[in-house]
Amino acid sequence: MGRLSGRDVFSMHRRELLRRYLLLSPLLPAPMCGYSDRPFRDLLRTMGAGLVYTEMFSSEAMVRGDPRTWNVMDFKGEEPPVAVQIFGSRPDLMAETARIVVRHGAAIVDMNLGCPANKITRNCCGAALAETPDRAVAVAQAVRDAVPHVPFTAKIRWQKNNGALDLARRLEDLGVDAIALHARTWAQGYGGSAEWEWIARLKEKLHIPVIGNGDILTIEDARRMLRETNCDAAMAGRGLVGNPWLVRHAAQAQETGNFFPELPDETERIRILLEHARLMRLHRGPHGLIEFRKHCVRYISGLPGARVARVELMQVTELDQLRETLERHFGSLVPS
Ligand SMILES: Cc1cc2nc3c(=O)[nH]c(=O)nc-3n(C[C@H](O)[C@H](O)[C@H](O)COP(=O)(O)O)c2cc1C
Repeated sequence: MGRLSGRDVFSMHRRELLRRYLLLSPLLPAPMCGYSDRPFRDLLRTMGAGLVYTEMFSSEAMVRGDPRTWNVMDFKGEEPPVAVQIFGSRPDLMAETARIVVRHGAAIVDMNLGCPANKITRNCCGAALAETPDRAVAVAQAVRDAVPHVPFTAKIRWQKNNGALDLARRLEDLGVDAIALHARTWAQGYGGSAEWEWIARLKEKLHIPVIGNGDILTIEDARRMLRETNCDAAMAGRGLVGNPWLVRHAAQAQETGNFFPELPDETERIRILLEHARLMRLHRGPHGLIEFRKHCVRYISGLPGARVARVELMQVTELDQLRETLERHFGSLVPS
């Protein structure tokens, strides 16, 4: 056997690291703007998530030193491993951003090639960058070269006429270590249903791990995706909002082979709600509880009296007030 080049050694090391990260827990939380912040990642970790993703960061803003982006770059000092997602369409800025996030503790650099939001696609980023594959490949190559020792992954959507398969294969060839596929097209946005068949097709074509994503709301969904598509890991987004213990139940189900209820009892739901609110306050200051409102409505959804409580909970600005409002509406369900 010939001598291994430095590049081969890096590649083997990265792929081994990534393999270990993917084995840490059976359900991966998806990156979600406005949700995958430090408090939510910390909470998910207490639920047993082994690998967590940040929301996406703009390479333009980061290299320019935009204080808002630097303020939300909240993974410094966080328990590893954290996958940090970045987006942009300029190879030089994306390369520099990859170096910055790795210096600040990213265990994985993930590139967004799927965001359908206008403000992203009009600058040829996200899903639009994926539709200009030569440019996407040039950007990915620059990131790969910038951080050769760190696992680098990409999150894509499906594209018609096998576009996603071709793009993914080119990404694999240049040294991307895994691909996450959100099994919807750009045109679908977040509507319609995810076509898991596309995940299976991608898995057949690639040698690197494929992470399947789209419409996992229950443990059974996750199991079915793994079974039906043969993907290497299942990733859930919206299904974890107000229901982060899906991650814990997935781990328990894997360990014991048993099914667990999708939701814990009502007292436990309120306990986690309060813990999440505490983390929001801790990491985001007073504004944290305002940002928490979108989670709060999901935690109480389905509880008796939730509709009336919701109106008051939308006014809450402090932790004491949150507890007091919950006690007034849900009484003994609120843990002491
Ligand atoms: C509010 C929201 C924000 C999102 N932000 C991101 C993001 O920053 N990066 C990304 O790759 N995907 C983002 N997504 C897409 C999710 O990661 C995921 O691919 C999508 O929601 C499909 O999975 P689901 O059906 O389990 O929700 C976002 C989705 C939502 C609903």
